[in-house]
Amino acid sequence: MSAPSFLHTQLMPRGIRDPLVLGAMRAVPRHHFVPDALRANAYDDNPLPIGHDQTISQPYIVAYMTEALELGGGERVLEIGTGSGYQAAVLAEIVESVYTIEIVPALATEAAARLARMHYANVHVRLGDGHRGWPEAAPFDAIVVTAAPDHVPPALIEQLRPGGRMIVPVGGTDQELILIVKTETGAARRPVLPVRFVPMTGEAQRR
Ligand SMILES: C[S@@+](CC[C@H](N)C(=O)[O-])C[C@H]1O[C@@H](n2cnc3c(N)ncnc32)[C@H](O)[C@@H]1O
Repeated sequence: MSAPSFLHTQLMPRGIRDPLVLGAMRAVPRHHFVPDALRANAYDDNPLPIGHDQTISQPYIVAYMTEALELGGGERVLEIGTGSGYQAAVLAEIVESVYTIEIVPALATEAAARLARMHYANVHVRLGDGHRGWPEAAPFDAIVVTAAPDHVPPALIEQLRPGGRMIVPVGGTDQELILIVKTETGAARRPVLPVRFVPMTGEAQRR
């Protein structure tokens, strides 16, 4: 399947409508983010392995999570779980800057090199444990988490600005995407979609 056609077969029929999200999904060449041996499958309607027991998420889920953030351009966004760098590139097409954290050293190095090669100068990649967030760059207008903890990391809520939105898969075998909207006094949470992500490792598993 080619890049333009997956918008019409996978994204729009499932309700992805935001022109900024559809434009970003059209613009980012997903085949550059998958292993060479899987290039022919890059636009398939499923996640794909990227090595180190990790995956690049299904295109629809990337679009869904991006749309849930209600971005308008100009935002500063934090991503936890860089993986291949694909979600970061999609965000970078829309917003001012993306801060993305990956815990597996080889994936962080590869994604940083890939994003630099592709001239995504507004993406900052850090090797580390995203459970702690990126305090020096906070607050963020939006946060997207692409590995599943069994609780919402408190540091991430702290690092979201009031009015900001976070989308995070939470759970073990059964997971839900939770949409969090931070208010001046707290944070409103609601489950929006059942999902299956790789677990968040590091501190998230020691609590
Ligand atoms: C589903 S993959 C992410 C897909 C990625 N967003 C992409 O577009 O390719 C989840 C990623 O989260 C990473 N991860 C897991 N626990 C983490 C943690 N505590 N901090 C940062 N990254 C973590 C994994 O190593 C993996 O690369």
